[in-house]
Amino acid sequence: MISSQIQLASYLFASILFILSLGGLSSQESAKRGVLYGIVGMAIAIISTVLGEGVEGQIYIVVAIAIASVIGLLLARKVEMTSMPQLVAILHSFVGLAAVLVGFGSYLDPKTHELAGTEHTIHLVEVFIGVFIGAITFTGSIIAWGKLEGKIRSKPLVYPGRHLVNIILLIICIVLAVMFAGAAGTSGMLYLYIMTAIASFIGVMLVMAIGGADMPVVVSMLNSYSGWAAAAAGFMLGNDLLIVTGALVGSSGAILSIIMCDAMNRSFISVIFGGFGAGPTGPAREVTGDVTAMDHEEVAGLIKDAKSVVIVPGYGMAVAKAQFPVYDMVQKLKKSGKEVRFGIHPVAGRLPGHMNVLLAEANVPYDIVMEMEEINDDLSETDIVLVIGANDIVNPGAEDDPNSPIYGMPVIQVWNAKDVIVMKRSMATGYAGVQNPLFFNENTNMLYGDAKASVDKINGFLQ
Ligand code: TAP
Repeated sequence: MISSQIQLASYLFASILFILSLGGLSSQESAKRGVLYGIVGMAIAIISTVLGEGVEGQIYIVVAIAIASVIGLLLARKVEMTSMPQLVAILHSFVGLAAVLVGFGSYLDPKTHELAGTEHTIHLVEVFIGVFIGAITFTGSIIAWGKLEGKIRSKPLVYPGRHLVNIILLIICIVLAVMFAGAAGTSGMLYLYIMTAIASFIGVMLVMAIGGADMPVVVSMLNSYSGWAAAAAGFMLGNDLLIVTGALVGSSGAILSIIMCDAMNRSFISVIFGGFGAGPTGPAREVTGDVTAMDHEEVAGLIKDAKSVVIVPGYGMAVAKAQFPVYDMVQKLKKSGKEVRFGIHPVAGRLPGHMNVLLAEANVPYDIVMEMEEINDDLSETDIVLVIGANDIVNPGAEDDPNSPIYGMPVIQVWNAKDVIVMKRSMATGYAGVQNPLFFNENTNMLYGDAKASVDKINGFLQ
């Protein structure tokens, strides 16, 4: 057992570590250190909570933590990098469910009803809001998981008047909150259950209304909601550290969502309320023309002749695990005096920073990894761009076809380079399901096949 002063000091220390952790995660060089701060902070938080005054049955808590840790470890080891967003989404749903259960437990706890007057009302409001946010996070995250996993169709499910329906449901919840706060003893449980059902429905409908292309923002929004749900649980349990941690997750998730919306040129409000405002009014423009392809030797020949090379990786590089041979290629090209750089789109792949993580894994130095804005200016001076398993992020339709589902999303303007090679297995569309006019350009050549196999073969010719 530790005294409440020591617990408070530990909480303060853990909060500082969490802030340092977030700071560390903001750049690739310091990311590992950031993760370490987070792990140590969380260990301190858990130990000082479990050993705190008034906590009983530590043995059960330790057993539960041990079982959950084993499951977490196995899951995290098994999951492919490309399936990480699904894992993150489902983990958010657990936070939401936990907030709902803590709310129910807190309301049924006899100690809650020993409180009187304003203090009692404030606690009931905490419970109600915590359960409300928790239920939305819980069901919304499950739908997001289903969409990312391909179990639920990614097309937005919209019906006329849905915003009005959501507003009416919200008003019903406010009325239920008033009835709940006025109910004697635990008789308000019924109102809590009804509100939970309504909030769960709102969570489902909010995420169902959001299209596949906006899913990354939704996952980060749900991350933010899960933070607020945790903060609400912190209020219910009177745990300061949970409030601080929840607020950190809640606000950083919201900031990340806004940054991602900027990167995709989406309106934040439109994304979180599911396609609020105008979308495409007609079918995306039909792409016609001829597609030309090259073999590995021809591509190697073009690369040999080039002075400057830009590599634009996408989801397919992650699937093929091609980052390792790609780095071998970079080393060969640098040795022969060529300028080689990477152009990274903010939503390339399936999770924020996906490409940066893969390139760091293959030991690619950070100074040749450029962001989209930096590389776009240089592409007209570039001899050859190798698009490796990317599709939507290099689609010119995002700039010039108002009916394209990704219209308005900034893209890497690879078509401005002298030559463009697109390495992918077929003419299949990418995540947004739209055909890419880039493939039909005169200065574009396709190199069909698995990205890793293709890069390996090209490397063979570059010896
Ligand atoms: P995509 O547009 O999804 O295109 C990836 C391409 O990779 C596919 O067209 C596929 O074509 C190819 N591919 C798949 N496996 C391959 C393999 N083994 N070898 C070679 N090529 C392979 O990816 P992107 O360009 O990276 O764009 C990302 C998209 O995902 C955006 O629409 C973005 O909004 C969305 N999204 C992003 C995130 C975040 S936060 N990054 C999260 C969720 C969704 P083939 O089948 O013909 O090979």
